[in-house]
Amino acid sequence: MIGGLRRNGHSMSALASSRSFVPGALRGTLTVPGDKSISHRALILGAYAPEPIEIRNLNPGRDVRATLEALIALGARVEGAGSSVRVLGGRLREPMGTLDCMNSGSTARMLLGVCAGADVRARFDGDESLRRRPMEPVAAQLRAFGAKIESTDGTLPLQLEGTPQVQTRRFILITPSAQVKSALLLAGLFSNEPISIVGDKFSRDHTERLLRYLGAPIEWDGTRVELRGAPTRRDAIDVAGDFSAASFFITAATIAPGSDVVIRGVGVNPTRTGLLDALLQMGAQIEVLDEREAAGEPVADLRVRHAALRGITIGPDVALRAIDEIPLLAVAAAFAHGETKITGVRELRTKESDRVAAIERLMSAVGIDVEVAANGLVIRGGTPHGAGGMVETHHDHRIAMATAVLAAGAGPLAIDSDASIDVSFPAFLETLRGVQQA
Ligand code: S3P
Repeated sequence: MIGGLRRNGHSMSALASSRSFVPGALRGTLTVPGDKSISHRALILGAYAPEPIEIRNLNPGRDVRATLEALIALGARVEGAGSSVRVLGGRLREPMGTLDCMNSGSTARMLLGVCAGADVRARFDGDESLRRRPMEPVAAQLRAFGAKIESTDGTLPLQLEGTPQVQTRRFILITPSAQVKSALLLAGLFSNEPISIVGDKFSRDHTERLLRYLGAPIEWDGTRVELRGAPTRRDAIDVAGDFSAASFFITAATIAPGSDVVIRGVGVNPTRTGLLDALLQMGAQIEVLDEREAAGEPVADLRVRHAALRGITIGPDVALRAIDEIPLLAVAAAFAHGETKITGVRELRTKESDRVAAIERLMSAVGIDVEVAANGLVIRGGTPHGAGGMVETHHDHRIAMATAVLAAGAGPLAIDSDASIDVSFPAFLETLRGVQQA
């Protein structure tokens, strides 16, 4: 019963409840969970070798659990529970059943790469939302690598047979996706073959950084990656705080008058901080304090105070570095003086939900005008007004949390279901309650 509920994100609506959000300033200090992207990668690199590796501050959400359970099904061992675990890996084997990636695109795409390289046969599936998301870009590149992949229409469920004989070691990335890039790097790693990739557009580089931290010979410059060998060390991995999780509080504090918060220990990898750059350009008051490092990633404390914003143009390079934060940039734009144009948003249509449509629903809930073109959005800022309206989340965790942020500045709003929040940030509601003055 519990397993069934967990396996299918959408059947969780049985447990879901609608939820209301109130306006109010954010004040005080908070922390966010470990980074989801880094957590997936830490577990996967843990499964690469038999010696144990310690991972601390692992993201507690359902997506990362999907990766952890799939790696166990592939033969890895995970000791400990919660945010501190020890992973022991080595030679992976064919799983007994289907690998259930639940709601997690990262799990599906990166583990396809792992199985391709480890010469493992596996069937991949996920929940209704993941079954709609494109797998063909990653499948096409892994076929060139040498894997056999069958799916009816380029989506899950999908059957993969890894390869003992690598065919291609040099790739041109056909989509500017960190997940596809990482799938290829992991395929190379698990097959012990060097891999080079060109055509990246500064997508997030967590896989590269973690490989370097663990001693692998790897070089990259944002457009090209070359992995020449395997990690040599099993140093403990302290996962940086999740910038995407922090972004909800950065944006809420920026738009809610009277706010002043400090968010501690946030990862500020420049391939992730497009939201910070865009908000600063809009006039936000954000200080980056006490920069340090955790497992090869820059980390800092962020102080954010309420500020008046102005509309700007956000190009595709910034949009890629804020790919999961575009709904929040739209929320900020609603409060800005003048128009904000955001280009390079096509990819948003195939995230956990169609996030362009979600932005339209968010804006309409507070009476703000948005114009949608093929690959762009124009938001005309004004005085957003939340009057208790309900925003449909379409089971998308980031849209559920973005609604809470919008309400902090605009007035009361509700969501149909809060069940999806568990995907990345189970303690979100509690954390918000801790800093929000009603
Ligand atoms: C991720 C990369 C991004 C992002 C996703 C996580 C990753 O996807 O949207 O939430 O961990 O590599 P794409 O790079 O495929 O756009």
